[in-house]
This record gives sequence, structure tokens and C-alpha cells, in this order.
Amino acid sequence: MKSMTPFVKWTVRAGAAAGILIVVVVYLASTSGDIVTQPIRYSHKAHMETAGMTCTDCHASVLTSSSASIPSLEVCSTCHSDQPLSQSAEEVKLLEFVKKEELILWQRVYHVPDHVYFSHRRHVTKAGLECKACHGDVSGFTEPVASQFLPITMENCMQCHRENNVSNDCLTCHR
Ligand code: HEC
Ligand code: HEC
Ligand code: HEC
Ligand code: HEC
Ligand code: HEC
Repeated sequence: MKSMTPFVKWTVRAGAAAGILIVVVVYLASTSGDIVTQPIRYSHKAHMETAGMTCTDCHASVLTSSSASIPSLEVCSTCHSDQPLSQSAEEVKLLEFVKKEELILWQRVYHVPDHVYFSHRRHVTKAGLECKACHGDVSGFTEPVASQFLPITMENCMQCHRENNVSNDCLTCHR
């Protein structure tokens, strides 16, 4: 560093700072996740009402483990394989994925950072909370959620914990 002129030093530092700034901006853009567009305009309503399914038919692990899980293509193809069941162009798209055995890259709308521990089993099976309490009336949705119904913020977690006399000790949620 000794041989650097002040100008070069300044440039290096400014460059590093700009680099950090870009990283921060990209990070914020990727985590604020306000508008998510899914590969297929999936309708929860069609499956709850017309197909008569339940939440756990697709989110199979929600009662027994920390994550709810997003169904794989195999789940869809038990009903959608060759003949369309509707007039929908979205179903035509789905049948293409099934034919090519191509993964549907659903994006996550609800997500906690790695330093936070959250368990569906604890909240649904143990505390008896309905999905609605945190996700809204999903069974009526005709298209994928574009943003979080109950924003996953520390304050929102803590508020419900206060109302239910659940511990808000830092180590309850941060492990
Ligand atoms: C036929 C399968 C199926 C059934 C039944 C189903 N879901 Fe889904 N669910 C999906 C698929 C596919 C996605 C991803 C696309 C989307 O966001 O709509 C999803 C996404 C979600 C999400 C958003 C997850 C995220 O982070 O993006 C929530 C919350 C959800 N479902 C809750 C429910 C609830 C509550 C029920 C019952 C009322 C239910 N689901 C029934 C297939 C299903
Ligand atoms: C138990 C059978 C069953 C499973 C499993 C199933 N579907 Fe369906 N799906 C149906 C039926 C029945 C309809 C027709 C509903 C209607 O006519 O409104 C339908 C309709 C659709 C449509 C068009 C309807 C609309 O309003 O957009 C799409 C898209 C679709 N399904 C996607 C999926 C995806 C994606 C999965 C897997 C995550 C899936 N389905 C799993 C039975 C099923
Ligand atoms: C107390 C609030 C709460 C309740 C009640 C709740 N969820 Fe969630 N859900 C969350 C949070 C927080 C996340 C993000 C979890 C993560 O990143 O690990 C999430 C994520 C999800 C996801 C995204 C995929 C995944 O594997 O995490 C789905 C699907 C989902 N929930 C479905 C459901 C269903 C179905 C029910 C009801 C049976 C339900 N949730 C009840 C808070 C809740
Ligand atoms: C709608 C209300 C509600 C919301 C929102 C909620 N919780 Fe909870 N949580 C509860 C209840 C009620 C319990 C007690 C469950 C039981 O009986 O064991 C609990 C228990 C817990 C526990 C276990 C506590 C212990 O003492 O071991 C953890 C960890 C936890 N929640 C994390 C979270 C996180 C992280 C969030 C936000 C992403 C969150 N919760 C949002 C209601 C909620
Ligand atoms: C009920 C669950 C819960 C409890 C209790 C809790 N937190 Fe959090 N905390 C969260 C969640 C969820 C996030 C992620 C929020 C987000 O991404 O907006 C978070 C994020 C954070 C962050 C990162 C902030 C950021 O902007 O990224 C820090 C630091 C933090 N918590 C510290 C604490 C401390 C210190 C305590 C104890 C006084 C505590 N937390 C108690 C759930 C909790």
C-alpha cells in the first residue's frame, strides 16, 4: 500500500464502498420481495372448492414438521397428466411441465432468515392456530399470493406471543 498515491487509495476505498452498497441494494431487493410472479397462475380456490382438497394434501409436512413444503410436480401429475380438467391456459402450461418432467420453480413468499427458528408443527398442531391467522383466507385465492398477508417481522411474531403469554426471550426464536 506504501507506493499508492492518495488518489489511488481513495479510488480503492470508494470502489470497495460502492461494492458494498451494490451488495446491500441487491440484498434488500431480494428480501423485501414485495411482488412475486409465479411460473403458473395457480388457483387455491379451484382446488379447495372444485377438487375438494385439503391444505395437507399438498403441504404435507405442515402438521408434523417445521416447514409446510411446496408440492412437487408429482403431486400435480396425479390429477393433471394428459387430458385437461379445465379450459384454463394456465393448466395447458402445467401440462407442458408435466410432459417434459420439468421442475416448476415456485418462489417463496413467506420466509424467515436462517438465524430465526420457526416451526409450523408448534403453531398449528400444538397451539391450534389456523393457517388463516398468518396467511389469510388462502382457500379463496384465485391466484398466487404476491406478498405476505401477515408480514414476517420480529414485531409481528412478538405481538402474538405477548397476546398468548408465549416467551419473547431472544433465544426462543434466535438459535
Ligand atoms: C393442489 C395443491 C395445493 C393445495 C390443496 C393447497 N396448496 Fe397452498 N400452495 C400450492 C402451490 C402450488 C403453491 C405455490 C404457488 C402459490 O403461491 O400459489 C402454494 C402456496 C401456498 C402458500 C404460499 C407459500 C409461499 O411462501 O410462497 C401458502 C401460505 C399456502 N399455499 C397455504 C395453503 C393453505 C392454507 C391451504 C389450504 C386452505 C393450501 N395452501 C392448499 C399448492 C396447494
Ligand atoms: C386431486 C386432483 C388434483 C391435484 C392433485 C391437482 N389438481 Fe389442479 N385441478 C384439479 C381439478 C379438478 C381442476 C379443475 C377445476 C375447475 O374446473 O375449476 C384443476 C384445475 C387446475 C388449473 C386450472 C384452473 C384455474 O382456475 O386456474 C391449474 C392451473 C391447476 N389445476 C394446477 C395444479 C397444480 C400446479 C397442481 C400441483 C401443485 C395441481 N393442479 C394439483 C385437480 C387437481
Ligand atoms: C403463526 C403463523 C403461521 C401459521 C399459523 C401458519 N404459517 Fe405457514 N408460514 C409461516 C412462516 C413464518 C413461514 C416462513 C417459514 C420459514 O421460512 O421457514 C411460513 C411458510 C409457509 C409456506 C411456505 C413453504 C414452507 O415450507 O415453509 C407454506 C406453504 C405455508 N407456510 C403453509 C401453511 C399452512 C398450510 C398452514 C396451516 C395448516 C400454515 N402455513 C400456518 C407462518 C405461519
Ligand atoms: C398468531 C400468533 C403467533 C404468531 C404470529 C407467531 N407465534 Fe410463535 N407461538 C405462538 C403460540 C400460541 C405459541 C405456543 C405454542 C405451544 O403451545 O407450544 C408459539 C410458540 C413459539 C415458539 C416455541 C416457544 C417456546 O417456548 O419454546 C417459537 C420458537 C415461536 N413461536 C417462534 C415464532 C416466530 C419466529 C414467529 C414469527 C415468524 C412466530 N412465532 C409467530 C403464536 C404465534
Ligand atoms: C418471537 C420471535 C422473536 C423473538 C422473541 C426475537 N426475535 Fe429477533 N427476529 C425475529 C424475526 C422473525 C426476525 C427477522 C425479521 C425480518 O426479517 O424482518 C428477527 C430479526 C432480528 C435481528 C436482525 C434484524 C434485521 O434487521 O435483520 C436481530 C438483530 C434480532 N432479531 C435480535 C433480537 C433480540 C436481541 C431479541 C431479544 C430481545 C429478539 N431478536 C427476539 C423473531 C424474534
